[in-house]
Amino acid sequence: MHIERVSIPESAHPIISTSSKGDQSKWRIGNKWIKQDARGYESKAEVLATLILSCSTLPSNRYVQYFPCEIELPDGEITKGCYSYDFRGDLQEVTLERLFEANFTSTDSITTDKTLSTEEKFQQLSAQIESFTGLNIRQELAQLFALDALILNEDRHTNNILFLYDPKFKTWSLAPIFDNGLSLLSDEKDYAPGKPISILKRKVKAKPLNSSFSKQLSLYDGPPFIYKKQLITRLEESPFDFGRAKTVLVSQLNDPIFQKLWIEGENND
Ligand SMILES: Nc1ncnc2c1ncn2[C@@H]1O[C@H](COP(=O)(O)OP(=O)(O)OP(=O)(O)O)[C@@H](O)[C@H]1O
Ligand SMILES: [Mg+2]
Repeated sequence: MHIERVSIPESAHPIISTSSKGDQSKWRIGNKWIKQDARGYESKAEVLATLILSCSTLPSNRYVQYFPCEIELPDGEITKGCYSYDFRGDLQEVTLERLFEANFTSTDSITTDKTLSTEEKFQQLSAQIESFTGLNIRQELAQLFALDALILNEDRHTNNILFLYDPKFKTWSLAPIFDNGLSLLSDEKDYAPGKPISILKRKVKAKPLNSSFSKQLSLYDGPPFIYKKQLITRLEESPFDFGRAKTVLVSQLNDPIFQKLWIEGENND
């Protein structure tokens, strides 16, 4: 399969990361946001997350589409990565964390409160978001955590949940789902290739409300939203080599805790 090549000009400024593990180099060139694999196969995981979402009921403007690419660095070195098209336009991006800061608080006061259950944290966080923006994003947020559980995303920190503010009309919206690359055991520094997947899977910790994926998954009580059969077919037919990301996803698809996400229910497996 032919993979697009993106050249990084000498003059392009790398973008500084904000995350815990985030040492991925990134650039913005025109309306393309490009990020380079740093710890393993982040771009394969990112592209696979796009495939999953494209087999869901989510409209395509609810998630960022990522495309695999080869990156040609200014010194001529070729590395792997992925890119997406700008989703911000003229809107201002405000991370979940920044939203709380702007209102003289922090998400920590909720997420690290040991007296609260995961459900209570979720309700308090959602109520605060609603008071700051007017948005009720309970369903979208729980859906995001369900997706994260499916792909074992270990990087859903409070800067990877984003709002968009329209300064002209003074209105808020939730940004599309983005930055799903630290998932499906893509961090090969932490999850060594060759080790049994079943053992590695148990080491991955969720964010931001609970380190347990199943606890965060249990917040979702909406309708099923993933076409599992379609996903399996697309996965089998894809010419792209997803490597271990695919193996991990297939093993997740067989886990009965995700039953509530599959649209066709019992006839599905
Ligand atoms: N398609 C896009 N449209 C608009 N902004 C984007 C896009 N992709 C990335 N960005 C901006 O770049 C930032 C970093 O992108 P992203 O979160 O994907 O990278 P990362 O290195 O994986 O992040 P982290 O710092 O969470 O590890 C985003 O928070 C956002 O501000
Ligand atoms: Mg990020």
